[in-house]
Amino acid sequence: MKIAVVLGSIRDSRFGIQVAQWAVDNIEGAELVDLKEFNLPLLTSAVPPMMLKGKYDVPEQQAWGEKMAEFDAFIFVTGEYNHSIPGALKNAIDSLGVELLGKKASFVSYGFDGAIRAVDHLRIVLHNFSMSLPRAQVSINLNHEMVDGKFVPAAHQAGALQQVVEQLTK
Ligand SMILES: Cc1cc2nc3c(=O)[nH]c(=O)nc-3n(C[C@H](O)[C@H](O)[C@H](O)COP(=O)(O)O)c2cc1C
Repeated sequence: MKIAVVLGSIRDSRFGIQVAQWAVDNIEGAELVDLKEFNLPLLTSAVPPMMLKGKYDVPEQQAWGEKMAEFDAFIFVTGEYNHSIPGALKNAIDSLGVELLGKKASFVSYGFDGAIRAVDHLRIVLHNFSMSLPRAQVSINLNHEMVDGKFVPAAHQAGALQQVVEQLTK
């Protein structure tokens, strides 16, 4: 099973890159897919991407779609922006269709309350792609696990991540 660790923050100096790298380093064979590298524009397509069967007019959207199509399962790494997911991540998901359809996804989130609300929103969004979304998730609390701007995972997080991988791959 090919697993992508998808980083949804495209901010300069984003904390999320540390979290995503930690996840990739601890999941055998996983690949980092960094949304920032795709320079994806806001979706303006007249036709909903779900109806376009992976063929898009916008080159950045095509590249993004082709990369996501390579994977069987995704671990979305997301921060919490105003109690939801980053707008860039929502736009990136809105820009996809068949690439996600019926696949599996799990979550690693980080925020001052663990970004649980963002993951709950993301689960609702991904349900529209008929995805399988196991219950396990990693919730990182920035009050304790961000020290001088560095990600310092709590002792239980390695086990939490393994549980996510187990549920995703079984
Ligand atoms: C637009 C915006 C909204 C935010 N809203 C929340 C929030 O609702 N809850 C929270 O815990 N942190 C919030 N934060 C703080 C983020 O958790 C923190 O900045 C984190 O580093 C963002 O992830 P990133 O650096 O990977 O983009 C917000 C940050 C931004 C930029």
